[in-house]
Amino acid sequence: MKNKKQNNLAVNFSGSKILITGGAGFIGSNLIKMLLAATENISITIVDNLLSAEKINVPQNKSVNFIEGSIADDKILRQLDDRYDYVFHLATFHGNQNSIFDPLADHDNNTLTTLKLYERLKNFKKLKKVVYASAGCSVAKKTYGPASATHEDAPVEINQDSPYSISKIIGEFYSTYYFKQHSLPTVRARFQNVYGLGEILGAGKWRGTAATVWRNVIPTFIYKALKGEPLPLQNHGRASRDFIYVNDICRGLLACALKGKHGDVYNLASGHETTIRQLAILINQITGNTAGFELLPKRSWDHSGRRFGSTTKAKQELDFVAQIRLPAGLKLTVDWTKNSLKLIESNINKHQKKIGNK
Ligand SMILES: NC(=O)c1ccc[n+]([C@@H]2O[C@H](COP(=O)([O-])OP(=O)(O)OC[C@H]3O[C@@H](n4cnc5c(N)ncnc54)[C@H](O)[C@@H]3O)[C@@H](O)[C@H]2O)c1
Repeated sequence: MKNKKQNNLAVNFSGSKILITGGAGFIGSNLIKMLLAATENISITIVDNLLSAEKINVPQNKSVNFIEGSIADDKILRQLDDRYDYVFHLATFHGNQNSIFDPLADHDNNTLTTLKLYERLKNFKKLKKVVYASAGCSVAKKTYGPASATHEDAPVEINQDSPYSISKIIGEFYSTYYFKQHSLPTVRARFQNVYGLGEILGAGKWRGTAATVWRNVIPTFIYKALKGEPLPLQNHGRASRDFIYVNDICRGLLACALKGKHGDVYNLASGHETTIRQLAILINQITGNTAGFELLPKRSWDHSGRRFGSTTKAKQELDFVAQIRLPAGLKLTVDWTKNSLKLIESNINKHQKKIGNK
């Protein structure tokens, strides 16, 4: 019963006008597909500058209006009028290592974006909810000891590892400030580590480091495993993360929009802790890769050891529970990667010259 209810979440958006910043990206494009699968009686505006996304991810559909450009651009902001029921603010400068290389680009695309968007939205009258995509890394305790589930009320860590995670938490500060000061109906969704179909290695423009290509651990491991390469394990793969399948994140975002309390915050997590070493073993098993691991030193900037998210509040208040367990989600992602190798490799190859010396 609960599963059916959760699958039908998107149906509730029938007749709605929705703005999605960063909608061409990995999570945004999955969210749009989920909404369109539930109803075509919907109007979706995407604003995305394709900094870390490919246009091919934008569904060609009469219900979707794609505006290419930055959500911090005044001309684009002026085009957005007071018609939206829901806003999902997913635009970001992807990801930690690129933000360390170019903190000003992170500021322009990850902090200023939120401030300028909220300034534009603050007097809109029709808005029911503005859902902000935040990140669990901004509040996780920095420990390699046994981890306990991070709850929503965990203290905000003053020692952040990257401009990216600073920007994500500043976005939370603006979300609560604009709610209190201007009654902007914000809800913060704190994601754990998302994986799944449609995350294209190398998508978008060069952002300064090899992380432009090797976006996140799961797509990287799957690609390398399919190529028969050893999987790179930094610090023996001792760090742990909470991996959540992209369809679950999208249902969580919809639940935040429908049921989230204004001004509040919810974890979107699986609640399961997996070490990077366990992940590598699982991916080598699923893909039949016999090349094992390549042991590498710890990343100098990364102090985030073991962590996973608490699921209690989202379950109680949003009726949200992640449904796809890691082995099943990985199998789906491996199949998608096999079928999308041409697209993925064309995106990896376009950065080949630059990646050589980074
Ligand atoms: N993927 C994860 O594991 C994860 C974890 C925690 C939080 N998040 C958050 O979820 C959101 C979506 O992330 P994703 O994984 O889909 O990444 P993504 O890189 O695929 O998507 C981000 C999108 O924002 C766009 N963008 C960048 N700057 C922009 C700007 N100035 N104006 C408009 N669009 C801009 C990019 O082109 C891209 O399409 C982000 O806010 C991210 O911080 C993701």
